[in-house]
Amino acid sequence: MVENLVKVDMSVTKYVFGDYTEALLDFYIAYFNEIKKANSLDGTPEMDRILVELEIESSVRLGYLVAERKPSFYTEVGCGLGIPSLTLAKLGFDGAAFDINPNLINFGKRLARELRLFMRYTVVDADYWTPSVPDTFIIAEKPRHKNDETQDMEKRVLDIAIGGGYSLAMVPYLWDSERGDNLIFSRTVLYKSVVEKCRLYSSRLEQHGYKTHTFDMLPVTVGSLDVVFFQAVIAEKSKDVR
Ligand SMILES: C[S@@+](CC[C@H](N)C(=O)[O-])C[C@H]1O[C@@H](n2cnc3c(N)ncnc32)[C@H](O)[C@@H]1O
Repeated sequence: MVENLVKVDMSVTKYVFGDYTEALLDFYIAYFNEIKKANSLDGTPEMDRILVELEIESSVRLGYLVAERKPSFYTEVGCGLGIPSLTLAKLGFDGAAFDINPNLINFGKRLARELRLFMRYTVVDADYWTPSVPDTFIIAEKPRHKNDETQDMEKRVLDIAIGGGYSLAMVPYLWDSERGDNLIFSRTVLYKSVVEKCRLYSSRLEQHGYKTHTFDMLPVTVGSLDVVFFQAVIAEKSKDVR
């Protein structure tokens, strides 16, 4: 499938990061290969440049969608490199990003330096986190708990948002842990599971007074087909019903 994926529309990344787009791509490839080596993921294929473009453009678009809502403060949960946060920082918005993995946080800090951006990266366990800044816009891109078998990170993030009336931008996780298989290129299952999750989460958020929008994040061309790989739910509560 990968070889049939011919084109990723990188327009939002190029618009936001301009001359730094190549640095972002190069960093991501180096990051992926280091992680791979550190985790002895020898069976994992080399990170294909098109896949890197897909990941980055989707993350930048998530940050851009949040920026359009002009958050007074945002926090990205389980951020990894925190590309949505860096997108917001580049667009002039203030916020923070955290992950439980110190190694990933170090990578994030290095990337921020490379892009000449300031970002508050911290090592925090989401199990013990709630926003400390009023009106925090919570961002969760493909959240997944380190103990995936016993915890549901997406549910936890939804609970925190609903409990405090915080706005939320979430891209559900795509990994099918039962099959232990990255479904990014298994269109039918992926589309079904992601759409299903977005529908479920939107409906729960709406029951709690949120206005929700679901976005097809990144249409890409695979062979002769236009396929959507990611969906995001953006949920906001109007100030008078909080
Ligand atoms: C699937 S990755 C997604 C990373 C990033 N958001 C992205 O889309 O590239 C899930 C991330 O959640 C982090 N994580 C797992 N359990 C966590 C926890 N309890 N608290 C904070 N972060 C956690 C992992 O270290 C990992 O970076």
